[in-house]
Amino acid sequence: MSQLKKTTNLAKNMAEPCASKMDFESAFKRTPSVIFHIKQSMQDFHLSDEQLESVMKRMGQEMDKGLHKETNPMASVKMLPSFVQTIADGTEDGMFIALDLGGTNFRVLLVTLRAGEKAEMDSQIYKMPQGIITGPGDKLFDHIAECMAEFLHRLDMSDKHLPVGFTFSFPCLQHQLDSATLITWTKGFSAPGVEGKDVVTMMREAIQRRGDLKLEILALVNDTVGTMMSCAHDISDCLVGLIVGTGTNCCYMDKMKNVQVLPESEGDMCINMEWGAFGDDGVLDDIRNGYDRELDENSVNKGKQLYEKMISGMYLGEIVRLVLCKLTEQNVLFNGEFSDNLKTPGKFETAYVSQIERNVKNGFTAIQNILYNMDLGAMHADCEIVEYVCEAVSTRAAYLCAAGIAAIARKIKNNYPEKDQMELTVGVDGTVYKKHPTFATNLAFKVDQLTEGSGVTVKFALSYDGSGKGAALIAAVADKSRKNSKSYSPKRVKTDG
Ligand code: GLC
Repeated sequence: MSQLKKTTNLAKNMAEPCASKMDFESAFKRTPSVIFHIKQSMQDFHLSDEQLESVMKRMGQEMDKGLHKETNPMASVKMLPSFVQTIADGTEDGMFIALDLGGTNFRVLLVTLRAGEKAEMDSQIYKMPQGIITGPGDKLFDHIAECMAEFLHRLDMSDKHLPVGFTFSFPCLQHQLDSATLITWTKGFSAPGVEGKDVVTMMREAIQRRGDLKLEILALVNDTVGTMMSCAHDISDCLVGLIVGTGTNCCYMDKMKNVQVLPESEGDMCINMEWGAFGDDGVLDDIRNGYDRELDENSVNKGKQLYEKMISGMYLGEIVRLVLCKLTEQNVLFNGEFSDNLKTPGKFETAYVSQIERNVKNGFTAIQNILYNMDLGAMHADCEIVEYVCEAVSTRAAYLCAAGIAAIARKIKNNYPEKDQMELTVGVDGTVYKKHPTFATNLAFKVDQLTEGSGVTVKFALSYDGSGKGAALIAAVADKSRKNSKSYSPKRVKTDG
């Protein structure tokens, strides 16, 4: 915890990370026209404090829109009840299977929980071939079932009767903890025949088709919810779960009385915001730039997930690529010469953005090597510009994310009017947050700024294996609840047993 506080204080004492780049100065000799183009691309990604405050306010408004019964059907930010109502209390135990589907890899985990002890995990990663991600839905679930069977076989546990927590990281309308309809695919998935269907039913059917597995799915969980749960297990004021990985999304604990899409008004409810869709109704049009529009035009889900497309790992590298193409066209970069890789959508990976920014302190040779992956013969003067572009794109992403977190923090604070000052922890996971060298500090810096004077202090903590431990914890509390209560009603799962 002391380390977390340090991050927050560090952020407070820091100068605005990207500001220096706005008055572009360099040791390299450049013509006024080249300098103009570089400044222009920096400017395209710059958001003033006023703009960020406004984004924060708009996020707050969109959250209200999603929570209210009358406005929910029109809302872009869907604010989906997760049916997780309280956090785990550390007494959960047993063996669980956790499934984790949400990106190009699929994971199966065996999680052993023992009251008061650290969770033990064994897991296996399986690739999700492109043909499965975009092929018939039934086949996708058959593939998952096959991976599970293979995993259990390897552990010699094929005959074990085990409860399953299924982390399914796509927007689902949850009807109860073990029933959820996929609203729409995101992150490049498009398997037909799943949207509008109950994902748990489809998974159960695939298990039945095989006939050799004795598994029972108890909970379907979004990755943000698992992340919050896993973190809350260790840090009691963790009320928010954030993912900044392939996609981005957030969940938080709200009061049931605010969740007007459900009839009950007592207690708390974890809300899966699906904030990636923020802006899909046009409310962010004034801050989106030409690169954002071009990226969206060429995406498989045009017009959707517009906030996510400015923040998450699936898109940051591609935005950088589009800017580099423009600067090459303007003869600012690479002597005006394109490589085939530079011209190819998706080739500039977000991992390169992290590597380039991490390596800038080691001089430009390291960056030259990274750009060589793109078949780009970069001079030092090119490397400097590429680094600026990466920094402009990733800093905007962190700041936009901060505007969202600040809106949530303020909203949570409103639920505790009796407290003058409160602290809360955001449990975070995802490659961008974990691997990018400055994303986490930029995020903390802006959240501090945007929440100043609001009575709430936000800390961040890395959440370990939310999709495994978190999903297992949720399955465990559901299991306990089911065993303890004869009158167990799956419609209203109380996750504290
Ligand atoms: C996408 C999904 C969302 C998930 C996020 C992070 O935005 O729609 O459900 O939480 O990616 O994986």
